[in-house]
Amino acid sequence: MDLFDQKTKLADMIHSNYLLLPVINRFGIRLGFKDKTVRDICLEKQIDMNFFLAIVNAFHNHDFFPEKELKSFSSVLIVDYLRKSHLDFKKISLPKIERLINQLVANSKSDDLKVIQGFYNKYKKELLEHIKDEEETAFPYVLELQKSYDAPGKPLPPELAQYSIQSYEKEHSNVDEKLFDLKNIIIKYLEPNYNMVDCNDFLFELFQFERDLTDHSRIEDHILVPKVMDIEKELKP
Ligand SMILES: [Fe+2]
Ligand SMILES: [Fe+2]
Repeated sequence: MDLFDQKTKLADMIHSNYLLLPVINRFGIRLGFKDKTVRDICLEKQIDMNFFLAIVNAFHNHDFFPEKELKSFSSVLIVDYLRKSHLDFKKISLPKIERLINQLVANSKSDDLKVIQGFYNKYKKELLEHIKDEEETAFPYVLELQKSYDAPGKPLPPELAQYSIQSYEKEHSNVDEKLFDLKNIIIKYLEPNYNMVDCNDFLFELFQFERDLTDHSRIEDHILVPKVMDIEKELKP
């Protein structure tokens, strides 16, 4: 699979992979690109072009994951992108999935769907707790730690010395598995008395969300956490 570079036209990027649209929206880029290239738009919007390219290419091509390069970007840039993704999950993806499952339950006779709806509600609650924990504990810790790292010589504030990024790393596989299980129950065990159009819409949205979320978790687990662990090793020997 090809990779995008600074000469790639934004329009070609979206023709080649429309799932990148929400990803580039997180950088403040909206449709109506005309013939602008990645370089043009990054200059215009004052976006760090190398970071932008690393993020879109990692999403587009799963075999491409420039760990070393991504780890070299500031925690501030990485956390900012992750926070914008959280906002999309909370304000766009989850409400949309919820609308679709409500519609599906209303238009089908299947009792299985009520069970699936209950399963989804539990999954959503767990995911939102995970996001809240990152927003309120992990990300502020990362940003404070980065500040201390950037100002060598100053003693580490005691609240930073107590926390470790590894405590935050554990939960992903659990949340990711639940989303896979939800899709799997629908695909394998749903009785045929359901509304086909609504159910396909619901399932497609789950697949799309899973892809976005997997990419997000991959950046957290393979970029942010190891990067912070390196900083911790230096600051808390
Ligand atoms: Fe997250
Ligand atoms: Fe996470």
